[in-house]
Amino acid sequence: MASACITGLGMYVPPKVVKNDDLKAFYDTSDEWIYTRSGIQERRWVEEPASTAELGLYAAQEALKMANKKPSDIDLIIFATLSPDMYFPGSGVLLQNLLGLETTPALDIRQQCSGFIYGLSIADQYIRTGMYQTILLVGAEIQSTWIDYNPEGRTVGVLFGDGAGAAVIEATNAPGRGVLSTHLYSQGAYARELCVAEPSSATRRHELPGSYGMRPYMNGKEVFRHAVQRMGEAVQIALATQKWSPEEVDLYVLHQANIRIVQAIAEFFHLPMEKFYNNIHKYGNTTAASIPICLTEAWQEGRLKSGHKVILAAFGSGFTWGSAALVW
Ligand code: ACO
Repeated sequence: MASACITGLGMYVPPKVVKNDDLKAFYDTSDEWIYTRSGIQERRWVEEPASTAELGLYAAQEALKMANKKPSDIDLIIFATLSPDMYFPGSGVLLQNLLGLETTPALDIRQQCSGFIYGLSIADQYIRTGMYQTILLVGAEIQSTWIDYNPEGRTVGVLFGDGAGAAVIEATNAPGRGVLSTHLYSQGAYARELCVAEPSSATRRHELPGSYGMRPYMNGKEVFRHAVQRMGEAVQIALATQKWSPEEVDLYVLHQANIRIVQAIAEFFHLPMEKFYNNIHKYGNTTAASIPICLTEAWQEGRLKSGHKVILAAFGSGFTWGSAALVW
């Protein structure tokens, strides 16, 4: 049976760099607070107006180039984002059109920071059944437009950045290569601990006050606690399924929400931080784009080599979480 192999990777981040100190224009905050609490030094923000699908396009073009594929080779597009261009339709169809494709199916998924892991699992299942051979998986976010710039928005506002990452996923018959296993979880009981509740189908827009705007909410401590526990469990089940020891994994790529979450997981498994690829200091939390951006940079830096054992894991709003075990 064929399994899914990542054959192309690409990323795009907007050129505008926003340093921690730049956020003092909106918030009572400091570089010291942000860096010590999260590991973030700067993030990228788009110049408005911008399109999430377009960010995805730039990353997808790079990924297609690396995989030596044309847009017409794509059998399915999977688009993961929490910041789509429109309330509906999803950004997947917009990307399909931007790629110059006519009827290629496009599937949007709403799994926030776990979007890439969910998308990889979906791609893997389609490839295993033989339905599709070449899948484009994109994670793209424009978050600087939903951030709350009012003083009370500082807890969430300092953490997020814009960007996109993409992977071309192809069928391979090479035994023991590609995606070996994925594990997915969610727990809607915690949906309101990290959410943007408006705009929503529960509210009639014309009844809202004039200052209508998005108000992201995050119970930071609760999210942190669950993220450490659940990502740790997701890594554990990936290791147990593959019968890998923590040490024999060449690279761990964990969702970039907070460097302290990664440190806590590294400590739990008694692993050095060098086993983990991190770039949160440069981009902040880019949600669905975080893992494919990490993978692209890790590959560019020579940290992903043929035969390497790799574990991906993510946790985010939903709550949703999961992991994937791959041999590169
Ligand atoms: N600058 C300065 N002070 C701030 C800021 C800020 N930007 N934001 C909050 N504070 C204040 C708070 O008001 C609070 O003050 P108080 O104690 O007087 O009430 C204090 O700082 C809170 O500080 P800590 O308790 O030390 O904060 P904590 O260590 O919990 O760190 C953080 C906060 C960084 C948000 C952390 O909780 C976190 O990373 N949580 C998890 C985030 C995450 O994993 N998200 C998941 C993915 S996101 C997705 O799926 C969309």
